[in-house]
Parts: sequence; C-alpha cells; structure tokens
Amino acid sequence: MTATGPLPQRRDLPTVADTEAFGRELAADLRAGDLVILDGPLGAGKTALTRGIGAGLGVRGRICSPTFVIARTHRPGRAGGVGLVHVDAYRLGSTDADVLADLDGLDLDTELCDNVVVVEWGAGVAERLTDRHLLIRLRRAEGTPHPDPDHLDAGAPDVGDLHEARTVSYGWVALDGSVCADRLG
Ligand SMILES: Nc1ncnc2c1ncn2[C@@H]1O[C@H](COP(=O)(O)OP(=O)(O)OP(=O)(O)O)[C@@H](O)[C@H]1O
Ligand SMILES: [Mg+2]
Repeated sequence: MTATGPLPQRRDLPTVADTEAFGRELAADLRAGDLVILDGPLGAGKTALTRGIGAGLGVRGRICSPTFVIARTHRPGRAGGVGLVHVDAYRLGSTDADVLADLDGLDLDTELCDNVVVVEWGAGVAERLTDRHLLIRLRRAEGTPHPDPDHLDAGAPDVGDLHEARTVSYGWVALDGSVCADRLG
C-alpha cells in the first residue's frame, strides 16, 4: 500500500542539477536491498533523480529513461560496490493484476539481494517487494509554470533546458503505508 499522508522530509530543488545532487546525497545512505519508489507526474524529474542516485552509487552505464526496456541493471563501478536496477513501471500491464505479474517477471526480489532497486511510477504497485521502502514524491513547485509549448518551436531552447523548481518530500514507509522514522525504526 502506498503512503497517502505527508512524508517527513522535504527539500526544494530549483534546478535539475540540484535534483541530481539530491540523488547523490541519498545514495550515500542506500545499500543493497533498498527499494526506492519514485512518485510524480510526467517530466517531474524521476529519471534525473535516478541519475544522481546512480552517480552517487558509482554504477556503470548511462542512466536514461528506459524507453524500450522496463528495467535496466547498472553494475557496480568497483568490486564490492552496489549495483542499481532502474525500473520504469509506466508501461507495465493495464490492470493491477497485469502490473503485478509483470513486476514478478522482472525478478526484482532476487535483484534486491545485490542492488538498490529504483522504480519510477512504482507507487501503489512495487511496495510489496520489501518490508520498507523509501518513497520520494517529486512535484513541480507551486507557482512554477508548465513549460510553454511555444518553447518547442524551432530556435527556442529545448524544454529540457528550462530550469523549473521542483519540491520533493520523502521518507521511509512500511508495507501498510505507515511512515517510519528510518529504514529500521
Ligand atoms: N528542478 C528540476 N529537477 C528535475 N528536472 C528538471 C528541473 N528543472 C527542469 N528539469 C527538466 O525536467 C525534465 C525531467 O525529466 P525526467 O525524465 O527526469 O522526468 P521523469 O519524471 O523521469 O519523466 P517520465 O515521467 O517521462 O519518466 C528534464 O528535461 C530536466 O532537465
Ligand atoms: Mg523517467
């Protein structure tokens, strides 16, 4: 079950660089077996945050939106390091049962033994993989306009180059959706 109430920690992320830096910071506390669920609308910065987590863990390979695959495994960059499995649940089955079957097919419980598993669009589906997960909610900051479609015209800066503030709230959550003090307590 996903947590519906407020999460204990909050941070402002004015630029994409701040979002990536926040991911690197989070990675310092992550270890093999940890499940991170990223919640937020299209373009919220879930992949950008995952890129930061991957950089902080020091994993191999470029982290990008897994468009043609549902999950991508990034091996540790050094012996004894931890790997990262990056899952995008957006394209998983159309019914809850299908989504669960698809997730089962990915064998994530086995992957969790040696890796941190990050699931974009995982809220409401991936929680049951572990007893506790780190839930991260990314939102566009209040008052931040949506990207203007006119910016997509030729000659205008790519929409991805525009800095728009995000806010993030996060915390460890138990299987029943209750918020925990940390991954243990
Ligand atoms: N403060 C910010 N934090 C994160 N991304 C930002 C920020 N400001 C601008 N951006 C831009 O927003 C876009 C976020 O894209 P990203 O692919 O990370 O989102 P996503 O949540 O993974 O999207 P999807 O739902 O399609 O998977 C990038 O183009 C990034 O440069
Ligand atoms: Mg993404």
